[in-house]
Amino acid sequence: MALVAPPDLDRSASVPPLSVLDTLQQLTRALNSQRGISSDDKLSGGYVWLIDDQAERRWCLQWLGRTVEWATKKWIECESDEWEQVAETASKLTAELCGKSASGAVQRRVALWKHSGDLLLLGGIAVHEPSFVHADVGCRTWGAAILLARRIARQSIDISMHRRCIELGSGTGLLGLAVGCVLQGLVGASVTMTDYLPVLIQAARDGARSNGLLDNGTAVPMRLDWFELARQITEQGCTGDEQSAIALPAASYMDTVDRDATAAGTEWEGRVEPTLSAEESKGAFDLVIAADVLYEIEHCRVISLLANHLLADAKPGTRSAVSTPPRFILTTPLRSTHLREVAAFEAEMAALPAMRLVSRDDSTRADDLDAWISSMRNEYSAAMLASDQSLAKAIDEDAGDLLVYRTFIYERLLAEATPF
Ligand SMILES: C[S@@+](CC[C@H](N)C(=O)[O-])C[C@H]1O[C@@H](n2cnc3c(N)ncnc32)[C@H](O)[C@@H]1O
Repeated sequence: MALVAPPDLDRSASVPPLSVLDTLQQLTRALNSQRGISSDDKLSGGYVWLIDDQAERRWCLQWLGRTVEWATKKWIECESDEWEQVAETASKLTAELCGKSASGAVQRRVALWKHSGDLLLLGGIAVHEPSFVHADVGCRTWGAAILLARRIARQSIDISMHRRCIELGSGTGLLGLAVGCVLQGLVGASVTMTDYLPVLIQAARDGARSNGLLDNGTAVPMRLDWFELARQITEQGCTGDEQSAIALPAASYMDTVDRDATAAGTEWEGRVEPTLSAEESKGAFDLVIAADVLYEIEHCRVISLLANHLLADAKPGTRSAVSTPPRFILTTPLRSTHLREVAAFEAEMAALPAMRLVSRDDSTRADDLDAWISSMRNEYSAAMLASDQSLAKAIDEDAGDLLVYRTFIYERLLAEATPF
C-alpha cells in the first residue's frame, strides 16, 4: 500500500529498510521516465515524489541526503546488505537528481579524430571539469565546444594557417586544447585560453599540462573578463569605428555571479592571474574562437566588439604576418530559449564594416559526426569504423544531444580592404 509521506527517518529505529527501498524505487522510476524509459511493473509501496515540482524536488534531495547518512550509520552498526543497498541507491539518485551540480571536480577524456594516415583517433583530450559550486556554467564541457573541437581536429575547419589564436570563455577548455593540438609544432603558434573565473583558468592550465601543451607554450591560460576589456576598449576609443561610442549595457551576469566570492574573485588558490589590456590585445591575434558564449543578451554586443578588436589591424610586431585574413569562428547552440541572443549577435556582427561572414551552418552533433563518418567510408572499412570504441561512445553520447548548433566563420578585412 502506498505511504502517504516518505518514511520518516528521524524515528528510524522503527523504519524497516524495505519501506525506504520502495520509496527509492518510486524515485528511480520517476527519473527513468524523465529520460524516456518507462517500466511496466506495478509498484504499490513507497512515496511518489513529484520531481517536476521544484519545491518537492528540493525536499526529495534533503530526504535523500538524510537517507544516505542514516543508512550508512545502520550499515556500519549491523553490516546488513539491505542498508548498504539503501545507502548506495540513495547516493546514485542524489547525483542523478542534481546532475553536474552534485558532483565534484572530475577529469574526463573527450575523443577527437583527425583525418591523416591510417589512424583515425587524434586521441582523447583530457579536460578538467571543476565543480558547479566553483565554476557555475563553466563547470562542464558543452556540446558547442565538442562540435567545433571535432571539426577543427579533423580539419573540416582548417586553422593551420593561423598562429596567434585566442579563445573567449574557454570554460573547461576542450576547444582551446583541440586548437593547441592542431597548432602544436608550428613555429610561433599558440592559443591563449581565456575565461573570467580563476578556477576555470586553472582548469585550462591543468588541461594544457595534461595534454603536453603547457610547458612548450602552445597553450597559454589567461584571465579575460569580456566586460572589463570592453569597457577599456570603449573608454580608450581603441576600436577606431562607431562601436567606441556605444555605451555597454549592464550585464546581467553581474547579478548571478558573486564577484567577491571565491568562485568569481580574481584569485584562485593564492594565484592572481594575469590579464590582457585593451592596448596590448588590439590586433594581437589572427584567430578568435568561442563556443556557447551567447546566453545573455549583453554577450552578443560584447563578444562581437571583442572579436573586432582582437583581430584589428596588427600593430607592428604584435602579430606574425599571415597570408590569410584573421578569422573569428563561433559555435552556438540554437536553444529555443536563446534565439533572441543569436539573432542579436548576427545583427551586431552585420553592423561591423570590417567583418565579413564567410560561412554559417546549422547541424546537430549527431548529423555532423554521421556526415564525417560517411565521408570516411571510402578510406576506412565499416568494420574498422565500427571497431573504434571511442567513435561508438561518441555516437551514443551524441544521441542524447538533440540541439542544433550554428557555426559562424567571419573574416576580418584588413585596413586597405575595409570600406570605411
Ligand atoms: C556556457 S559556458 C561555455 C564554456 C565552453 N566554451 C564550452 O563550450 O564548454 C560559458 C563560459 O563563458 C564564461 N564567461 C561568462 N561570462 C564571462 C565574462 N564576462 N568574461 C569571460 N568569460 C565569461 C563562463 O565562465 C563559461 O566558462
